[in-house]
Amino acid sequence: MDQIAKIDKNKIPEHVAIIMDGNGRWAKQQGMNRVFGHRNALTSVRESVEAASEIGTKAITLYAFSSENWNRPKLEVDALMNLLISSLKKELPGFQKNNIQIRGIGNLKKLPKKAQKVLQEVIDATKNNSKVILTFALSYGAREEIVNAVKNISKKVVNKELSLEEIDENIINNHLYTFSLPEVDLLIRTSGEERISNFLLWQIAYAELHFTNVLWPDFRKKDFYDAILSYQNRERRFGKTSEQMKN
Ligand code: IPE
Ligand code: IPE
Ligand code: MG
Repeated sequence: MDQIAKIDKNKIPEHVAIIMDGNGRWAKQQGMNRVFGHRNALTSVRESVEAASEIGTKAITLYAFSSENWNRPKLEVDALMNLLISSLKKELPGFQKNNIQIRGIGNLKKLPKKAQKVLQEVIDATKNNSKVILTFALSYGAREEIVNAVKNISKKVVNKELSLEEIDENIINNHLYTFSLPEVDLLIRTSGEERISNFLLWQIAYAELHFTNVLWPDFRKKDFYDAILSYQNRERRFGKTSEQMKN
């Protein structure tokens, strides 16, 4: 793979988030039903995590099911939940072998009991792994996450565990589902859609965005490296001028 030679080892994004989109359209292109697309998404997950691990990205967060996705036809939702259960079980040995720690963010209590149980088992089994933190966003909505944070912070203010003056960006960060993860440096979305769809609204304030037309089931290591190379070609100024960044 020639791209990997071009990757600057000193400019690796610490945390990459991916909106895995386009499974339905991919399936339709093959004349198959949407669930066929979801079933073919697992290889892309594996390749992305492997690619992240190879270049030294510490955290990868995958948008697997949004709070809005509950509104899809019941048959599709059920199929996605069953796929989640079977995939977690199937991938556990690989997570262990590759030293991958699994986490889950979102309104996980809304997931079917069986899915919650398997997810918790995989989280517990991998909690001491340290090469890559792989977080699945499941029943995840960024607005819901923020509402949740506001409620928890308010509770502490009411109980006098926290004063109003103490509330700052750090406090808010620490009450989000992602509190222990590094800043998101790069957000990738596949399938040509250029929107955020209620993903990590707070966390991507200064992330670089990479949109690709590749449909998620076709996404491979080379596509991940393309995103990294695009990221490395940008100047992250954080409000400063280009001249300031060069000094
Ligand atoms: C992404 O693919 C997977 C989920 C949202 C669960 P889609 O299912 O959204 O595929 P398209 O966008 O319809 O092609
Ligand atoms: C976003 O994709 C959610 C996931 C990838 C899990 P959608 O396909 O649901 O997003 P919209 O509805 O097209 O914005
Ligand atoms: Mg979609």
